Amino acid sequence: MKALILSGGKGTRLRPLTYTGAKQLVPVANKPILWYGIEEMVAAGITDIGIIISPETGKEVQTKTGDGQRFGAKITYILQDHPAGLAHAIKVARPFLADSPFIMYLGDNLIQQGDLKNFLRQFTKQQPDALILLHEVVNPTAFGVAKVDDVGRVLKLIEKPKVPPSNLALVGVYFFSAIIHDAISQIQPSKRGELEITDAIQCLIDQQKQVVACNLNGWWLDTGKKDDLLEANRIILDTYLTTSNVGEVDGKSQIIGRVQLGVNSKIINCTIRGPVVIGSNCYLENCFIGPYSSIADNTTLIDTDLEHSVILEGAKIVGINQRIIDSVIGQRAQLTIAPRRPKALRFLIGDDCQIELT
Ligand code: G1P
Repeated sequence: MKALILSGGKGTRLRPLTYTGAKQLVPVANKPILWYGIEEMVAAGITDIGIIISPETGKEVQTKTGDGQRFGAKITYILQDHPAGLAHAIKVARPFLADSPFIMYLGDNLIQQGDLKNFLRQFTKQQPDALILLHEVVNPTAFGVAKVDDVGRVLKLIEKPKVPPSNLALVGVYFFSAIIHDAISQIQPSKRGELEITDAIQCLIDQQKQVVACNLNGWWLDTGKKDDLLEANRIILDTYLTTSNVGEVDGKSQIIGRVQLGVNSKIINCTIRGPVVIGSNCYLENCFIGPYSSIADNTTLIDTDLEHSVILEGAKIVGINQRIIDSVIGQRAQLTIAPRRPKALRFLIGDDCQIELT
């Protein structure tokens, strides 16, 4: 069994963060989203992992993630030179996959830990041609959607339907036998110009191949947009964060609940109410840091109230006199109060940023 993790694409829904980096490397609880997928594979016993990368962000993904040793896996990087669809990615990965059965995992998806192992067991035992996972969503038009009959058999799969036949979305985790390659060779690009994996699975269904659909009951998040990213951050902190403190906390600070503090980080006169993770080399003074906040390495926060937010590496926030909530602040971004008159707002804001002022 092999795994193919997709870490290409343009990440347009997470702009501006994705102008300078891969969406799969955006951190959730201070760890790149992509790494959760790799760890899930290894936990399920799959260590031969191919990662699809793009020309734009491939180097960064490769440099940051490495050869797999840190995960106990062997990672092979496979370049997809343009984002021509999920089925196209499988086509490009054919030399790596050969005729092995495999799991395809979309690198910006997160599923509840441990779930993968159970579905892998079912796939290995039943040996269907494909096993797909379905999950109820409130906005099915944004996904691949399944029409199932009364006994749960899949009748039809439609990619991003205008009129969805159900609210059952295709989760970005698929189990395939080598027969999927034949199906992919028979499909045509969709209206959005991509070779859709949804169409390839539909092709299997049309040819009476065995496609098993399972309901994923645990949580599933597609972290492609800001609010989904914050929700993933909340769930991961809520579920998995354990307390550990290898930084410095002064006597005037209060640490409440589960808080992780990294090496060389200093907390001065702050209240931190967990779950909160703070990386290494951070400096926090006169701050309130509320639940569900992740603060990456090398950040500075002074006179700041923050809650339910993700702060990326090297950001600096000083003296903002309103509480910051539901926010994602990019790498090295600076949010400060202007020291001089006239009292005014001064911005240098990159393309596609979203700023909400009161
Ligand atoms: C892709 C698939 C879609 C699936 C979704 C899950 O959509 O095409 O069928 O439901 O991933 O995340 P995309 O993220 O490319 O819009």
